[in-house]
Amino acid sequence: MSQAPQATPFVCPSLPENAFAADVLAGLGHTPKSLPSIWLYDRLGSELFEAITGLDEYYQTRTETVLLGECAAAIADVIGPDAVVVEFGSGSSRKTPLLLDALVTPRAYVPVDIADDFLDDAVATLARRCPGIPMLPVRADFTRPFRLPPQLQTTQGPRLGFFPGSTIGNFAPGQAAAFLAHVGKMLGPRRRMVVGVDACKDAAVLLPAYDDARGVTAQFNLNVLTRINRALDGDLPLDAFRHEARFNAAASRIEMHLVAQRPFRASVLGHRFDFMTGESIHTENSYKYGQAEFRALASSAGWDVERVWLDARARFAVYLLRPAAGS
Ligand code: TRP
Repeated sequence: MSQAPQATPFVCPSLPENAFAADVLAGLGHTPKSLPSIWLYDRLGSELFEAITGLDEYYQTRTETVLLGECAAAIADVIGPDAVVVEFGSGSSRKTPLLLDALVTPRAYVPVDIADDFLDDAVATLARRCPGIPMLPVRADFTRPFRLPPQLQTTQGPRLGFFPGSTIGNFAPGQAAAFLAHVGKMLGPRRRMVVGVDACKDAAVLLPAYDDARGVTAQFNLNVLTRINRALDGDLPLDAFRHEARFNAAASRIEMHLVAQRPFRASVLGHRFDFMTGESIHTENSYKYGQAEFRALASSAGWDVERVWLDARARFAVYLLRPAAGS
């Protein structure tokens, strides 16, 4: 396969042109109001999320980065040479070199992300950082069924799925299991998967990670309203909303909300939506898993935990998954 640093993304045909409009009209029309979190990641949203990963309060990124540095050689040993690495929700691909540098002759890197121009830049940066590894970007919403680029059918070698950042926690548990099962089928029999998972912990540590003192997370969350107004001819009053992070202990998740501070009526694509004071748009969940819970989730989707790495404070875990015995 030839090297293509400025590879054109394979646009997965399952992503409909009007998916954003359909999701917004359905989500705002429903009680309680909600929006799928994928729409947080336009260009500015992706940049704001990058800024979140550098915040003091957001312990996840730096903790996981240290863990990946510690476990990359062991993962490379298990997977062996000539692996194809498929990363889901690759974003800036900043953690990817930790894996690619450790692997012996990786055959291809396949970043899958919904944010298209951000994906192009990330791939260009990574191609300079890891020259000689073919880059096959895919623009897809991996929360819906999606496909890998057709070129991969002729590329031999084991498949290594890479799903860092505790993005798995942004699925509801049932969806997370469906995703892991779908990915297992897609990666085939010679597969492994590396998954970064945020662990259960005190709300005093969790809440600031989703509501930082500088208000970057608030800006990130509120940006989806600007995107709706711009792309869908909306008139949502930005100053009427406040960002709020809530800990839902019963569900073991952090919830992200945009809460209306006063009553108003707004319109999007000509449809009217009424808001009451205190009414929220639920924009994101971030589930936290203990080891037993994550093991059970993986096992329900055809994966066994081969190894797990935890930081000293057990805040974050990196799991190496292999096909379940007998699957
Ligand atoms: N996967 C990240 C997480 O659950 C995503 C995230 C971090 C996020 N901070 C956020 C999503 C704030 C929405 C709002 O930790």
